[in-house]
Amino acid sequence: MSASTLPTTLTLTRPDDWHLHVRDGAALAAVLPATAQQFGRAVIMPNLRPPITTAAQALAYRDRILACVPDGVDFTPLMTLYLTDNTPPDEIKRAKDAGVVALKLYPAGATTNSDAGVTDIRKTYATLEAMQREGLLLLVHGEVTDPAIDLFDREAVFIDQVMQPLRRDMPELKVVFEHITTKEAAEYVASAGAHTAATLTAHHLLYNRNALFQGGMRPHYYCLPVLKRETHRLALVAAATSGSDRFFLGTDSAPHASVMKEASVCGAGCYTALSAIELYAEAFEAAGALDKLEGFASRHGPAFYGLPVNTGTVTLQREPWVLPESVAFGDATLKPLRGGETLNWRLTAAT
Ligand code: DOR
Ligand code: ZN
Repeated sequence: MSASTLPTTLTLTRPDDWHLHVRDGAALAAVLPATAQQFGRAVIMPNLRPPITTAAQALAYRDRILACVPDGVDFTPLMTLYLTDNTPPDEIKRAKDAGVVALKLYPAGATTNSDAGVTDIRKTYATLEAMQREGLLLLVHGEVTDPAIDLFDREAVFIDQVMQPLRRDMPELKVVFEHITTKEAAEYVASAGAHTAATLTAHHLLYNRNALFQGGMRPHYYCLPVLKRETHRLALVAAATSGSDRFFLGTDSAPHASVMKEASVCGAGCYTALSAIELYAEAFEAAGALDKLEGFASRHGPAFYGLPVNTGTVTLQREPWVLPESVAFGDATLKPLRGGETLNWRLTAAT
């Protein structure tokens, strides 16, 4: 396409973010407005310290989030609980009554604040059965934690060791394989039937693992599951742009203060919420699939969760702008992925 025929404006049904970390306290106040400006809803990850494990905690956290929504902005946080070996099955009814939409499975030790996670999924089966009955979703961080398994193989091994048996044992449970990073996961989800879906981050659509080492170590590109090789990125782009309604947007925007990222031990997580929809537009445009963005960003997620599509819109313009190098994050600073660099799409209106 010649430059003159490139679209200059993109209007989409207001999208949702189906996987988001917003932290708490001053950090929450710093990051929440950016998401609320772009997205109608966001599924809020429960990996606080201590984690959100009860319906009562989720309700209190929801109130703290709502207190940070800017005046006049219509934004709904969709709350989740952190699944542990000991989550009682009767907490599920309370969660449902509180409006909680899902539980998050972190294999113990897999990622940031996952120490209280699940040591053996079979220990949670009575609770998963209660979720299946009540219609709550299971959101899965799909990596094994066995140190003997290469870090880059942990998602593919998880499919064999955990996902397949889980699907067999809980066929009616709705499962979202979160932030998938491999060809194996994309293929698995595509073939797993109507009750299995996946979220995809903008960074896994835009980058392969070379980004971690471009001219030196790049801590802001370090997240979990870690970026993979180019063949995997291409498979993820193909899945996201396929039009299949079982792939949808989940930024996994995961803010860590710059001092924690630029340290000898760097926390896992990319902060993308400041320019999330713009980054997805870039990835879809590079694949020649801007026409598939609205389904992925605004329609497939609500369909899987059984929720209505948003009524508002967002408008993006082709307008080069420089993403801030860093933003305030309580007493600290936070560096957005691509901070200081030029983006070609810019959100200019939201209703
Ligand atoms: O990169 C990540 N950051 N992956 C996760 O699973 C957790 C997240 C976080 O909370 O920082
Ligand atoms: Zn996450």
